[in-house]
Amino acid sequence: MPTALVTGASRGLGSAFASRLARDGHDLVLVDRDQTGLERVATFLRGPGRSVEVLVADLSDEKGLAAVQTRLEAKDRPVDLLVNNAGVSGETEFTVADIAKLQAEIDVNITALMRLTRAALPGMIDRHRGAVINVASFAGYLAGKGDAYAASKAWVLSFTDTVSASLEGTGVRMIALVAGQLRNAMFPAPPDASRDGLDPSAVVDTCLADLAKGRTLSVPGWRYRAVVDVLELPRRTLRTAARLARKGRDQAGTLRKPAHPQS
Ligand SMILES: NC(=O)c1ccc[n+]([C@@H]2O[C@H](COP(=O)([O-])OP(=O)(O)OC[C@H]3O[C@@H](n4cnc5c(N)ncnc54)[C@H](OP(=O)(O)O)[C@@H]3O)[C@@H](O)[C@H]2O)c1
Repeated sequence: MPTALVTGASRGLGSAFASRLARDGHDLVLVDRDQTGLERVATFLRGPGRSVEVLVADLSDEKGLAAVQTRLEAKDRPVDLLVNNAGVSGETEFTVADIAKLQAEIDVNITALMRLTRAALPGMIDRHRGAVINVASFAGYLAGKGDAYAASKAWVLSFTDTVSASLEGTGVRMIALVAGQLRNAMFPAPPDASRDGLDPSAVVDTCLADLAKGRTLSVPGWRYRAVVDVLELPRRTLRTAARLARKGRDQAGTLRKPAHPQS
């Protein structure tokens, strides 16, 4: 059975990822700082022949982060899919935001995501298989508030773009999920759960389908997709032009090489 490690798995989108991956036949490692919430999700998802580990860790804390890195590096219990889902968002303007809250946005949304990815990739590359899903946000394109959250999610998009390109030919894939406003996805949903926004389960389904197609960007919801398609157009065009230029240079280099080099 393949194993998936999901961060921020005690509720929200993380629990939706855990639920779908369990249905798909994955063993799970669920990470969160909320032990009670994690145990609730784990109890719900445990089933015959399926292992569900619970790893309580605060990803903004060095010790917690190191524990998850160690789990990802364990050669005898390989992780095939890393879902970097845990995220922190502030609700205030930057100039009045609490500095600890701003720092947590950087620590969880950027530092933890980068370090867990760094821990997971070498093993995946050695095994020639594996994938990383980085949960970004539409705010990474168009910020609603002036705190550090949108900038941190823009970093996730840029990071995924860069690293996924370097993974070409390794058998390992990486995708950024551009999540729009989500419906409350408490696990199980409380009676007062919000009904507005995208259905987290549908978001997960779209993301996993896009990953299977080899895409590096997943944008669930047609409204979000329409905007992102337009915003991504210049970058896609530039990338295609760069690829064609590289190919042209390689071909020219091959033609210039003498068929029988003189010794
Ligand atoms: N909700 C949206 O509308 C929306 C839109 C776009 C993108 N996103 C992104 O989607 C992802 C999931 O969002 P969500 O709405 O499902 O979030 P959520 O309900 O707030 O859940 C976030 C999860 O991350 C965990 N987490 C936060 N800080 C942590 C830390 N220091 N260490 C370990 N775990 C930590 C939380 O644990 P605790 O329970 O301990 O807090 C929680 O389980 C995030 O990356 C978010 O930025 C969400």
